[in-house]
Amino acid sequence: MCLRHYTLTRPAQLWYRLVGFEVDPFAAWMPQVVLDVALSDLCREAGVQLGSVVRVCDSLEQVPAGERFDLVVGNPPYGRVTLSPPMRRKFRRSLFGHANLYGLFTDLALRFTRPGGVIAYVTPTSFLAGEYFKALRGLLGREAPPASIGFVGKRKGVFADVLQETLLATYRRGGDPGSGTVHFISSGENGSIEVGAAGTFSLPESSDQPWLMPRTEAQGVLLSRVTVDIGSEGLVVRRTDGSLGPVRFPESEAALLASMTPENAHADLLAEPKGREIGPCGQALPG
Ligand SMILES: C[S@@+](CC[C@H](N)C(=O)[O-])C[C@H]1O[C@@H](n2cnc3c(N)ncnc32)[C@H](O)[C@@H]1O
Repeated sequence: MCLRHYTLTRPAQLWYRLVGFEVDPFAAWMPQVVLDVALSDLCREAGVQLGSVVRVCDSLEQVPAGERFDLVVGNPPYGRVTLSPPMRRKFRRSLFGHANLYGLFTDLALRFTRPGGVIAYVTPTSFLAGEYFKALRGLLGREAPPASIGFVGKRKGVFADVLQETLLATYRRGGDPGSGTVHFISSGENGSIEVGAAGTFSLPESSDQPWLMPRTEAQGVLLSRVTVDIGSEGLVVRRTDGSLGPVRFPESEAALLASMTPENAHADLLAEPKGREIGPCGQALPG
């Protein structure tokens, strides 16, 4: 049910239906002011004052109290971090080796999202295939598979001072791991945002494996013909229609596949289909 309905019928509920966490007092003040302005008409109509919605706190120390949220939105910090033993225990389900702040915040979002609810996060792309994120991928695949991934096309110009490759992902708790969509997001003329469809993806059978998805329209067309997983034996290619027999695999498409994973991720495995034909179980046939 929408925020307007709750605000008008039960105004006191506004404060626990809308909550923000931010560790920096100034950064917490800004969204509070934006909310004051955005909700001023609604609050006037309901005869209430908004009060403080954004808590100044360390998000990673928060635990959900009572009901969880329909929507968790975040643009978390990123970078490697050394965790205290209690924090490492708290997040061990999503950790594999080094901890990265944005991975911890993604795990945190899951804890605050109700079944059927949505997480919308802006993060670096490295979790799609990086080894240190395999436990996080496994967790997301089991509990909240991605519904859509939007690659932020230009590293410069979208976020000030950010050179890291980023994406905007939505995850649905209890969603279908077999039906995600991919988009490209870029900045257009006069500060506008352009969004282009790139195709669909499904998670690998074992969701802790790298998530392969189209990075260009041509890759989207290719992936509508075959599904590609990285298994313990290497690249596994299957026909999308389930039919058996070798998948014909032109050299040009091998190059497309090779560019489908994020930088430096399993490039060695992806270079394998040089034999031009891939058997039904993924072994490269002699060229
Ligand atoms: C990438 S910025 C996003 C800022 C703003 N939320 C936005 O979307 O434009 C990350 C924010 O996370 C905050 N932050 C970093 N560590 C935090 C923590 N442990 N708990 C809460 N906020 C944190 C930083 O102060 C910073 O404002």
